[in-house]
Amino acid sequence: IQLLALNEIKHAQSMQELEQVRIKYLGKKGELTAVLRGMGALTAEERPVVGQIANEVREAIEDALGRAVEDVKHREKNARLATETIDVTIPGKAPEIGCKHPLTVVLDEIKEIFLGMGFKIAEGPEVETVFYNFDALNAPKNHPSRDLTDTFYITDEILLRTQTSPVQVRTMERMKPPIRIISPGRCFRRDTPDATHSPMFHQVEGLVVDKNITMADLKGTLDLFAKQLFGIGTKTKFRPHYFPFTEPSAEVDVSCFKCQGAGCRMCKGSGWIEILGAGMVHPNVLKVCGIDPEIYSGFAFGMGLDRIAMLKYEIDDIRLFFENDMRFIKQF
Ligand code: PHE
Repeated sequence: IQLLALNEIKHAQSMQELEQVRIKYLGKKGELTAVLRGMGALTAEERPVVGQIANEVREAIEDALGRAVEDVKHREKNARLATETIDVTIPGKAPEIGCKHPLTVVLDEIKEIFLGMGFKIAEGPEVETVFYNFDALNAPKNHPSRDLTDTFYITDEILLRTQTSPVQVRTMERMKPPIRIISPGRCFRRDTPDATHSPMFHQVEGLVVDKNITMADLKGTLDLFAKQLFGIGTKTKFRPHYFPFTEPSAEVDVSCFKCQGAGCRMCKGSGWIEILGAGMVHPNVLKVCGIDPEIYSGFAFGMGLDRIAMLKYEIDDIRLFFENDMRFIKQF
């Protein structure tokens, strides 16, 4: 029995096989156990002799099993370590690096310029109330932009903001002058998408309120901004315009920085490109926000980020910004 058992232990490859050997010889129904059970049939002289031999055999088998178990454990551990080794000579996988979206690139530039002039960044909700988007901004009750065909209404009183100008109101409610903020963000209008229209687009609003703020401050700020964004030789032109929340109001053009005369695609030969709307904050708007227009004055402006990015990079279709084709996005 001992020889057979030791031989089987020697050939066992795994913990399960060793356990099977143990059961076969030392288990309740095992072969050695059977021998011990059969001792009742022996004579009184034979019993201690056989008993001693049986015990020696059991110890030998237990010893061998114990050693074999240690061996198997050791081997399994080595096998595991072998599979876990790292080949440091294998060339690395370069992680694919993303890039900034062109709108983010231009927005970062715009933010840098205004932060440099002492502006802070303010944000407001994209889902707005009629009050903040229109009423508080002095928009007449019958203003065409309020129309269902221009604005995405969620309920009678709640809409997707059509401009970033409601952030002006929220900021003036929250802060006391001096105020100097820009507010970039998404806006929504019910436009059919084409090369120059998208129902979702971006604006950057600006607002300055303090004592003695004049139109000259507005002109100086925007002129410096245009020179920093489009190049030092850029000129600006202010054309009279109308916005409900500014008075006087202006549309601002920059001199065409790509101009090759009459054939210029950028400005259609006019030499000027419109980039933003601006004006002096209307006294009614200051009043709604609890700011006394007899003491304070301010200016505001709003520009289309998508449009400015299109001009800067000569992109001819606004829809490219929102298709997320990496071949397009990676070019900037
Ligand atoms: N909110 C205006 C628009 O969407 C732009 C604007 C902002 C004009 C601030 C004047 C002052 O057209």
